[in-house]
Amino acid sequence: MKRLVVAIDGPAGAGKSTVARIAAEKLGYTYIDTGAMYRGVAWKALQQKQEITDALILDVVRDIDVDLHYEGGATTVTVDGTDVSKAIRTPKVSHLVSQVAKLGPVREKMVALQRKMAERGSVLMDGRDIATNVLPHADVKIYLTASIEERARRRCKELQEKGHAVRLSDIRADIAARDKADMEREISPLVQADDAMRLDTTGMSINEVVEKILEMCR
Ligand code: DC
Repeated sequence: MKRLVVAIDGPAGAGKSTVARIAAEKLGYTYIDTGAMYRGVAWKALQQKQEITDALILDVVRDIDVDLHYEGGATTVTVDGTDVSKAIRTPKVSHLVSQVAKLGPVREKMVALQRKMAERGSVLMDGRDIATNVLPHADVKIYLTASIEERARRRCKELQEKGHAVRLSDIRADIAARDKADMEREISPLVQADDAMRLDTTGMSINEVVEKILEMCR
């Protein structure tokens, strides 16, 4: 089979990373979680223990080394050599990441890295602007979404299972704010590509979504 380039976009909590990781494993492909890269920048900004301004973020991104290593179905994210795979999933990072992701120089640097990672094909990349901007010539383009209630429930459960004390109402508000920020930002906003297939996963199990994606790739 051809070494496909698969682009999956969609709003926060649509289940992209969960299903993309499993689908990549089944296909023997590399999974590239681009959201983790923006989260890595946000994490580094928070380490500076200063007031977070755009200038600080731009300063932080100038010499950042963000790397993704995918092996055995799991992604290790490093920032300047430090493993931040867990640290980038905290509500604090989630809260800051939209501010980070709207800045042009941040996006330019991340997009260049992402294109390089996809060069050899056999990749499944997920994010917000993959089909529209990062890989406009992707072989398969999927727009994954779900109702905001379902997305908030999934995120809440995931965080509670990791031991975070979170409330559904707070998570829902955070997701709604991120939807707005991601869809309304000036540079590469979240939008379904004209040639992307839309998959609404509300009420679907993880396995059902993975099967649908594999079907689309076939
Ligand atoms: O998928 P995620 O929640 O880990 O993404 C974190 C943030 O990064 C999200 O709020 C939007 C941003 N993002 C982006 O702007 N472009 C991408 N390709 C991926 C993520």
